[in-house]
Amino acid sequence: MTTITCVEDFKTLYRRRVPRMFYDYAESGSYTESTFRLNEQALQDLRIRQRVGVDISRIDTATTLAGEPASLPIAFAPVGMLGIQHAAGEICVARAAERCGVPFTLSTMSICSLEQVAQETRKPFWFQLYMVKDRGFVRDLIQRAKAARCSALVITMDLSMLGQRHKDVKNGLSIRPGLRHLLNIASKPRWAAQMARTPYKTFGNVVGHAKGVEDLNSLLTWAAEMVDPSLTWQDIEWVRNEWGGKIILKGIMDSEDARIAANMGIETLVVSNHGGRQLDGAGSTIEWLPRIAEATDGRVELLMDSGIRSGMDIFRARAQGASGVMLGRAMVYALGAMGEPGIDRLVEILTKELTTTMGLAGVTRDADITRSTLATGAPSPELPHLRVAN
Ligand code: GLV
Repeated sequence: MTTITCVEDFKTLYRRRVPRMFYDYAESGSYTESTFRLNEQALQDLRIRQRVGVDISRIDTATTLAGEPASLPIAFAPVGMLGIQHAAGEICVARAAERCGVPFTLSTMSICSLEQVAQETRKPFWFQLYMVKDRGFVRDLIQRAKAARCSALVITMDLSMLGQRHKDVKNGLSIRPGLRHLLNIASKPRWAAQMARTPYKTFGNVVGHAKGVEDLNSLLTWAAEMVDPSLTWQDIEWVRNEWGGKIILKGIMDSEDARIAANMGIETLVVSNHGGRQLDGAGSTIEWLPRIAEATDGRVELLMDSGIRSGMDIFRARAQGASGVMLGRAMVYALGAMGEPGIDRLVEILTKELTTTMGLAGVTRDADITRSTLATGAPSPELPHLRVAN
């Protein structure tokens, strides 16, 4: 096997090892995929200042995210169906995250349940909540998250309507694969063998808990019907009262929305366009981040996701005003490629990349990664959309 040195290597291996329909599910954006592509490109276009003559013999990447210590400024993002990318996927990532000292977020649409992940880990994890129409189910989930000792609730704000991903529609993404998919699955023996053995085969947070959802088929109908287009800020107040703990709002891309959240007293926001999977045509998160930072003026902590593929990207996000990043696809690639050890290796690679970037940019502590570490001044003519200083 080739040596894995970067996130792209995980992606290549992931593509070889996991059935095509699940690779496509992760590796897609909505409609024309313009925002999906822009996220990565805009990060690449942001220039870091190379500095010399600074003692960089000791570099420390440690920080805190939403009040919790993190060995580097990353948290694992909520991604549905990790347990389909790799057997017991959610437990694998949660255990590796605990070992590496970074937060893990479990998705509502996970395969392993809240209780199963809690049983296999010691460190409290974050739980992502979909505000589905059935508020009784939401209330129940909140109670289950409390019982599982989750330390924060991550509420997804940008899925009140589903952005269409053409590949999923064309693949007929469902639990009952067609012949084309069966042939593809037959060509992935490692994946098929794990899946045959694992006890984690259903959507653990939902099946047997939501009204009328007893099996995978009824779950698919339920998931499509339960997306709630009437979600407003009042619902967030309701969750706040039910939960009583730390809340992180994910999917904020606008200064006005960030101000509303800050005025409500929400402490942490995730600047996110859902990895380009929702509003096609939205700006890149790295481009929007400084505006949101300016609008909220230090009153909220900002995390960022969508497009992060390297330690250099983590540095760029920190410099643009995020206290850290959430990793979705990078995590899926590593998990699908190598399972639990893949996540350890991913964190190792990102730590090395971030440390090297910090050193060559002349900073030795996370707190020193500020706007001044990026090239500022007049935007270059070929990059009109990127303005580092507002
Ligand atoms: C759901 O959140 C998805 O992006 O597939």
